[in-house]
Amino acid sequence: MIYVVITGTSRGLGASLAKLFLEKGFHVIGVARNENKALVQIAQEQGVTYQHYTCHLGDTEQVDKVFSIIANQLFNQQTSTVYFIHNAGTVNPIDTVDKHIPEAINKHVHVNLIAPMIGSSIFLMAANKTEIPLTNVYVTSGAAERSVYGWGAYSATKAGLNRYASTVALEQKELGTPHKAIIFDPSIMDTDMQKEIRSSSESSFQDVEKFKAYKRENNLRSTDKVAQVLVDQLSNSSTIENGKYYSVKNLLS
Ligand SMILES: NC(=O)c1ccc[n+]([C@@H]2O[C@H](COP(=O)([O-])OP(=O)(O)OC[C@H]3O[C@@H](n4cnc5c(N)ncnc54)[C@H](OP(=O)(O)O)[C@@H]3O)[C@@H](O)[C@H]2O)c1
Repeated sequence: MIYVVITGTSRGLGASLAKLFLEKGFHVIGVARNENKALVQIAQEQGVTYQHYTCHLGDTEQVDKVFSIIANQLFNQQTSTVYFIHNAGTVNPIDTVDKHIPEAINKHVHVNLIAPMIGSSIFLMAANKTEIPLTNVYVTSGAAERSVYGWGAYSATKAGLNRYASTVALEQKELGTPHKAIIFDPSIMDTDMQKEIRSSSESSFQDVEKFKAYKRENNLRSTDKVAQVLVDQLSNSSTIENGKYYSVKNLLS
């Protein structure tokens, strides 16, 4: 049995990934603050399982507890492969750094960086007690590679996530384990995150007009289209390249 654990399944890219993996016949476990009931129905129709865990990824205690329960379940049964897709993320606070308050910074870094780090450690520790291969997938953004006015927190956590992912890949290779880590860049998609970006003021986010134009001119990809690219890449675990940066832009062109 192949299991896919996905954070942020209530909407956006995470919801599309969960749906497409279920349709492929993989079991899916979703983690978010809100449950996506439609996924239960899809799982039933496909003869697989969808399990939801409610978790605030900004809360370390909850993250530790929920990921430990899931790892304990997956690495103690007839599992052939586990994929762990660290997809949940937030772009907020959108503003210049001089306006960021400690609480917002704290929550942002926990959701985008600390939760994936804690989850990776818990899963790798559990996987190493078994023969079950684990692939961690880290969902990044082009903002990791460039500075964006108003996205100081987002650029920092996505850059941190990229370096972390590369380190996980390097270590697992050196350790000679079957585990892999890859980075997935979905580019711009039509989701609530884009709505939040478009609703910011020009003084907080200089590029806001450019992002409004993306929507107006129909340049945002659908999450189903983007999710399909990752599902295709993960369909055959032997062809996944440890440490690789998978970019939707390259894979679709
Ligand atoms: N949209 C884009 O154009 C774009 C571009 C580049 C990269 N990305 C990246 O792609 C990923 C998915 O983005 P998206 O556009 O699909 O985002 P989205 O529509 O805003 O959805 C975010 C998901 O993350 C979950 N989430 C957010 N905060 C959470 C928290 N504190 N605890 C638990 N879950 C939380 C949400 O679930 P709940 O609210 O139910 O908790 C939701 O399911 C993110 O990593 C994002 O950085 C997006």
